[in-house]
Amino acid sequence: MSTYGRFPVVLERGEGCYVWDNEGRRYLDFVAGIATCALGHAHPALVEAVSRQVRTLVHVSNLYYTSLQGDLALWLSTHSCAEQIFFCNSGAEANEGAIKLARKYGRTVLGIEAPEILTAHRSFHGRTLAAVTATGQPKYHKHFHPLVPGFDYVPYNDFEALRGQLTGHTAAILLEPIQGEGGVVPGEAEYFRQVRRLCDERGILLILDEVQTGMGRTGKLWGYEHLGIEPDLFTIAKALGGGVPIGALCAKPRYALFEPGDHASTFGGNPLACAAALAVCHTLEAEGLVENARVRGAQLVEGLERLQERFAPLVASVRGRGLMQGLVLREPRAAEVVKLALESGLLLVGAGPEVVRFVPPLVVTAAQIEEALAVLEQVLARLPVPLAV
Ligand SMILES: Cc1ncc(COP(=O)(O)O)c(C=O)c1O
Repeated sequence: MSTYGRFPVVLERGEGCYVWDNEGRRYLDFVAGIATCALGHAHPALVEAVSRQVRTLVHVSNLYYTSLQGDLALWLSTHSCAEQIFFCNSGAEANEGAIKLARKYGRTVLGIEAPEILTAHRSFHGRTLAAVTATGQPKYHKHFHPLVPGFDYVPYNDFEALRGQLTGHTAAILLEPIQGEGGVVPGEAEYFRQVRRLCDERGILLILDEVQTGMGRTGKLWGYEHLGIEPDLFTIAKALGGGVPIGALCAKPRYALFEPGDHASTFGGNPLACAAALAVCHTLEAEGLVENARVRGAQLVEGLERLQERFAPLVASVRGRGLMQGLVLREPRAAEVVKLALESGLLLVGAGPEVVRFVPPLVVTAAQIEEALAVLEQVLARLPVPLAV
């Protein structure tokens, strides 16, 4: 179905940070399947792990144990603040799990009959019905009413507003460490510390959506590490499988309240997806990719800030963390920039009408960052300057 306004390109193969279309044209990929292909394309470790697993065991369901799922849960728990993991297949599904768990917590631990979850304006949590209701952007709600009850929205990075909107029914607060789709807006550490303190005082769950920020993208393994706090639950997907679909809901032990019968997923954490995810986890470590995201991210920011100076009438600011950066335009022209970049062999994606997003694979090199900046410079030079400035 026509759910996406697609670009007129048919992509056929990829290697590292490049993809090729069916006419043999090469593109530098700064989209990475929307912050997903952390290892780039056709990384030998992922190719090897997935090929081996296809020949061994693809799927058995969660009626049985598999060692790969245990290994992945162990890696995630030893590398994060969580200890219990529920595996699923996407970011939206991970957030659905978090929402259900928050409701169970609200009802059984806090004794709230109809638990409510606070989320932020301009947030993005996915497209299934509860996840889209959690998403604080009315444009995604249009056509889908009645939405799921039990959600309310607060301005992001505004602690007083959040405190003012708490009610006796609030069971959880769900936030992104950096708002991605909403325009690459980094969360402020002081705000998150205040929210954490409030949650501790009131017994409210703090849930972080790390679907886009997780797995090293921001220059730390988890977005929350920039904020000086730990969440009670967090969700991941996207880069976890390096392009093979897998998501996870990660919980501190005392909040892992699901019991047999509460929640499930046929495909969730099957051997194929777990083999892919383990290859991603081990390669992040073996190749120092989290550090690479930090260093290459700093290089990207420096280059983008140079462009901001040069094209001041067009570019308002640069914001983000690590390899999750946004170039904020003064006018809603991100789609124009993305289109011109594509024509010049650079894949970019917008984050709302004014923001051009940069989320390249974490294996990106210094030369590829310079290459992307050079294309972007040409693209910006071709954009007519707004008359009002
Ligand atoms: C922060 C965040 N949460 C959830 C999602 C939804 O993930 P998925 O498309 O895998 O359902 C996204 C996707 O862009 C996201 O950026």
